[in-house]
Amino acid sequence: MMAPLDPPTTQAKADCWREAVLTAGLAVFDWDVGERRIYRSPEMLANWDYAPGPNEAVDSARAVIHPDDYPDFWARMKDMEAGIVERAVLEIRMRARDGSWRWVRWRARIVARGDDGRPARIVGTVNDIDEIWKGRDLARESQMRLQGIVDSAMDAIISVDRDQRITLFNRAAERIFGYEPLEVLGQPLAMLIPSRFHQQHHRHVEEFGRAGVSSRPMMAQRIVTALRKGGEEFPIDASISQNEIRGHRFFTVILRDVSLRERTRRELAQAREDLRELSVASRTAREQENSRISRELHDELGQNLTSLKMDLAWLEANTPRDDGKFLKTIAAMRSVLDSTVAATRRISADLRPLMLDDLGLMAALEWLAEDTSRRHGFTVQLAVDEASENLAEPLASQVYRIVQESLTNAGRHAAAQKVRVTLRTIGREIHLDVVDDGRGLAPEDLQKKGSFGLVGIRERVYILAGSVEMRGDAGHGTEIHVRLPFPAIHEGSP
Ligand SMILES: Nc1ncnc2c1ncn2[C@@H]1O[C@H](COP(=O)(O)OP(=O)(O)O)[C@@H](O)[C@H]1O
Ligand SMILES: [Mg+2]
Repeated sequence: MMAPLDPPTTQAKADCWREAVLTAGLAVFDWDVGERRIYRSPEMLANWDYAPGPNEAVDSARAVIHPDDYPDFWARMKDMEAGIVERAVLEIRMRARDGSWRWVRWRARIVARGDDGRPARIVGTVNDIDEIWKGRDLARESQMRLQGIVDSAMDAIISVDRDQRITLFNRAAERIFGYEPLEVLGQPLAMLIPSRFHQQHHRHVEEFGRAGVSSRPMMAQRIVTALRKGGEEFPIDASISQNEIRGHRFFTVILRDVSLRERTRRELAQAREDLRELSVASRTAREQENSRISRELHDELGQNLTSLKMDLAWLEANTPRDDGKFLKTIAAMRSVLDSTVAATRRISADLRPLMLDDLGLMAALEWLAEDTSRRHGFTVQLAVDEASENLAEPLASQVYRIVQESLTNAGRHAAAQKVRVTLRTIGREIHLDVVDDGRGLAPEDLQKKGSFGLVGIRERVYILAGSVEMRGDAGHGTEIHVRLPFPAIHEGSP
């Protein structure tokens, strides 16, 4: 049997306690109020900037506590010393060994009182909470920074929870929708969408939630419609993203009011359409004017020249054979007259081939093909289907001009042997193809400064709302493909 141990003395208890503190490496103090001494654990002395050597003086704390925090600290300790408060928890700054100020939590408690009831021992701990505080500051700061960004964004930013109730509504959203945050927070997102889109929208968000992707534009390519407080609908561009925080799924929609952009786009399209119509009208007027001058040249001038020629022939016939001087002059006059007739014809035809008006597109194209092949020395194969033989205006004039420019180019630039011109009516469209076997158009030719032939073709096609493709293959020729729709007024009769 073992002998019972002696009950530990107070001193032994204190020693045990200190031993435990030492082993645990805690920053603690043990304040003997009566003796006015403080035991500070090695951890405490090692971490904080206490003066070297024994450190038992009560007011040593002054050296390590931030001057701003010290008065309050001292007052609290005085209260404890006087026994007015039982315990204290303070958050103060202490100077660490490296000289930096760190936030600590200072806890103190009265653990023993003397016979007179006054505190005899006060013990406490010091915990470094600087990291926690900094973390808290950082979190607050980043939260504020995020709030700032969200609020200064030009786009509306709206978050909704899983039930599609609004949880965030930034300044831009207030401005765009006309609501105060208090009017919308916690309300269903549906209040910002015209009712006829509710179902569709709800489904869209649900599907998006299931899809699990993190972000995407809403209804890609399509303008979504939203609803202002006053009931006005407006087009928006929107994208949606989803996040999960601690098991809670939420969606964020970023959107932009695009009414202005849409209106500008419509106005621009309208302006373009107006301009196109104006071009058609001015081209038509010019063709008509050309036609009038051409006819006058041909009819009036042509006839006068013909009668002059006849008079000259009569003169020649009635001039004595031996009058050399007269005959020579007459011959010279005839030659000038002939070239004047030819020039008149040429000018007239260039202005506008009267054949186009008198005999139709087919005849005019045939004449053009023959004339250019004679001028440039290549063969022109012309194929026109029946439906296109008598195209109405303004198509006929434009087709004629496009073929004319293409053939001139083939003669001037391509050194072609053969040019094929094909004109067909396919559905509600005219297809015109001009293909030569010359040197081939280069891509940079399409932008050649001061050249207006190809530009003119494009413009003609554009004002007729058609399309054109021009392409060259070096050494293997050039192809021009034109598609022209029949104008609406010719609907039903190609
Ligand atoms: N059929 C073609 N073959 C080869 N090059 C061509 C052809 N058509 C046009 N080009 C090139 O494209 C340029 C621009 O043509 P265009 O606009 O008709 O102006 P221009 O005939 O007054 O030079 C020409 O200068 C020429 O270099
Ligand atoms: Mg040209």
